[in-house]
Amino acid sequence: MADELLTPDAFPLETRRLVLRSVAPGDVQAVYAMYSDWEVARWLSRLPWPFTHSSAHTFVADAIDDLARGTGCMLAMIESQNNAFVGIVNLRMPALEPQPWTTDAGLAILGYGVTRERWGAGFGSEGAARVTAFAFEDLGLSRLRATVLRSNLASRGILEILGFKVSEFGVKEVPRYGGPPRLGDVHLLERRDWFANRPAQDMQSDEKSSR
Ligand SMILES: CC(C)(COP(=O)(O)OP(=O)(O)OC[C@H]1O[C@@H](n2cnc3c(N)ncnc32)[C@H](O)[C@@H]1OP(=O)(O)O)[C@@H](O)C(=O)NCCC(=O)NCCS
Repeated sequence: MADELLTPDAFPLETRRLVLRSVAPGDVQAVYAMYSDWEVARWLSRLPWPFTHSSAHTFVADAIDDLARGTGCMLAMIESQNNAFVGIVNLRMPALEPQPWTTDAGLAILGYGVTRERWGAGFGSEGAARVTAFAFEDLGLSRLRATVLRSNLASRGILEILGFKVSEFGVKEVPRYGGPPRLGDVHLLERRDWFANRPAQDMQSDEKSSR
């Protein structure tokens, strides 16, 4: 079962430029700095807004609890060469949540965010690709899902590189902080498709991170 494998000792994961380690109390300030930036937060329908210091403390505490329970992992993306926090990449298992909307224990939700100063350098793709590999190779999951606002071209770019396909067009995303619903699409990546396309993804991510 994936929840038995999703334990703190599964981390850190590494990529060419990044160490992905579980979020820790020392990350509160970096989490606050990233998510209190409206340019990052406006794409994330589940994030509270305004995102305060208290929100950052809750975010980190929830991340630690989720990993302790095996219901998700929230990983800090740390640049190996200078130890800088560049963002977050996470998995959560909806079937294991307190009020699950699915019974599909092979499904995880993939999420990510990169601090605005580091956008466009391939970190989002690099972290998401590593966690996708972890989900299929180490956790043995069957599929990953991400719901993305249609106007979020950067996030759609990441999912496309990984081989996600749109499975539901035109879902309405209601932001947790209120306001009108926004137009999004549900993207899915099936385990068999990821294994079939893996060599192409490895090549693309090597090319991008060496640019
Ligand atoms: C989405 C996000 C994580 C992307 O991170 P990033 O490190 O800048 O992404 P990358 O540099 O790996 O780029 C990913 C792809 O998107 C493309 N892209 C990046 N920014 C783009 C933009 N503004 N417009 C169009 N395409 C863009 C890149 O070209 C790349 O595709 P390519 O490899 O085919 O060239 C970042 O923009 C972010 O944190 N956004 C706010 C939070 C968010 O949207 N999270 C996801 C919610 S579903």
